[in-house]
Amino acid sequence: MDTQEQLEYGTFEATLERSRQLEQDLQKNPGKYQVLTGDRPTGRLHIGHYFGSLQNRVRLQKLGVPTFIVIADYQVLTDRDTFENIAENVKQLTIDYIAAGIDPTDGKTFIFPHSHVPELNQLLLPFLTLVTNAELDRNPTVKEEIIASGQKRINAGMYTYPVHQAADILFCKGNVVPVGKDQLPHLELTRTIARRFNDRFAKKKPVFPEPHPLLSQAPIILGLDGSQKMSKSRNNAIMLSADEEETARLIKKAKTDPERTITYDPENRPEVSNLLLLISLTTGRKPEEIAAEIGDGGAGQLKKVLTESLNEYLRPLRARRKELEQNLDYVRDVLRSGIAAAREVAVKTLEEVREVMNMKI
Ligand code: TRP
Repeated sequence: MDTQEQLEYGTFEATLERSRQLEQDLQKNPGKYQVLTGDRPTGRLHIGHYFGSLQNRVRLQKLGVPTFIVIADYQVLTDRDTFENIAENVKQLTIDYIAAGIDPTDGKTFIFPHSHVPELNQLLLPFLTLVTNAELDRNPTVKEEIIASGQKRINAGMYTYPVHQAADILFCKGNVVPVGKDQLPHLELTRTIARRFNDRFAKKKPVFPEPHPLLSQAPIILGLDGSQKMSKSRNNAIMLSADEEETARLIKKAKTDPERTITYDPENRPEVSNLLLLISLTTGRKPEEIAAEIGDGGAGQLKKVLTESLNEYLRPLRARRKELEQNLDYVRDVLRSGIAAAREVAVKTLEEVREVMNMKI
C-alpha cells in the first residue's frame, strides 16, 4: 500500500465545506442520493438526539431522499457485557423514530436491525481483507470508546466494527451519511474500503460509491449539568419518553449560575445559554430575545418558560409514542418490512460482489 492510500483522519474544514455543498445539491436533486444512517440500540432517545440528528433525518425524508436506517445491534456487543435488553431497545428506538416523524410507510424509508440481514453481514469478509490491522488500531473514535468502556480485555469486534459499518453503508450503495463529527473516521474508512474494493476487483465498472458525510448543522445540546454533551449514561438527559412532570422535575434541577439577570452568552454562561437554546429550538424564537424577555426573572422564570415550551413542543410526539407502545404489532411490522427491503437490496449487491470477485458458480 503506498502512502497516498493511508488513512488520514484530518481536514475537518474541507469536510465541512463539502458537506455544505452536498446539502445544497440534496435540495435540488434528492433522487440522486441514497441516505444511510444508523444508531446503536442502547436505549431510548433523548432530546439531544432529537434536535441533533432525528430532526435532520425527518427533514431529509421530507425532501424525498430514499433512506435506510440501520439499527446496529451487533455493535452493542463490542463495548458492553449486557445483551439482555437488545430486542427491547430495538423496539424503543423504532418507536422513537416513528414518533419523531420518520414515516416508514412512504415506500422509500426503511428501518431494520442489521443482524437480520445476512447478505449485508457477509460483505464484512471481503471488506476485512482491504484494511490493515494498523489502520484499525489508529481509529481515534475506537480509541476513545475503548477508554470509555473501561474494559481491560478488548474484543476484536471493537476494532473491526468500523469495517462492519462500511458494510452497513455500502450494502445499499449509500452515498450520503448524516453523522456527527465522531463518526468521520468511520466514514473515511468506508470511503477507503469502497475505493480499494473497486480498484482491486472492479476496475472497469465500480461496484461501490464513495459515500459522503453530511455533517449536521444542528447545535450540540448540552446536558442539564451544562458542562458536557447530553447523554443518558451521564445522567443529564431528558428522554423523549419522559412525561410532563418528570420533565418539569429534571429542568428544576438543571444547573444555572449565580447571576440573576438572564443573558445569552454560550461562552461564559454555558448552563443558562443551553436552556435558552432549548427554548429557542422549541419556539423558533431567537435565544437573545427570550433572554431579554426573562431578564430579571432569573433562573426560576427561565426554567418555567423552558418547562412549558418543551412540554408543549413534545406533546404530539409523546402522544404518538404512547399509541405506538400500545401497538407493538405495528412496530414489528415496520421492522419486518424494513428487513425485507434491506435484504432485497443486499442480495443484489452481494451478487455483484461475488461476480467481480470470481466467486460465482
Ligand atoms: N457507529 C454508530 C454509533 O456508534 C452507529 C452506526 C452503525 C452507524 N452503523 C452505522 C451510523 C452506519 C451511521 C451509519 O453511533
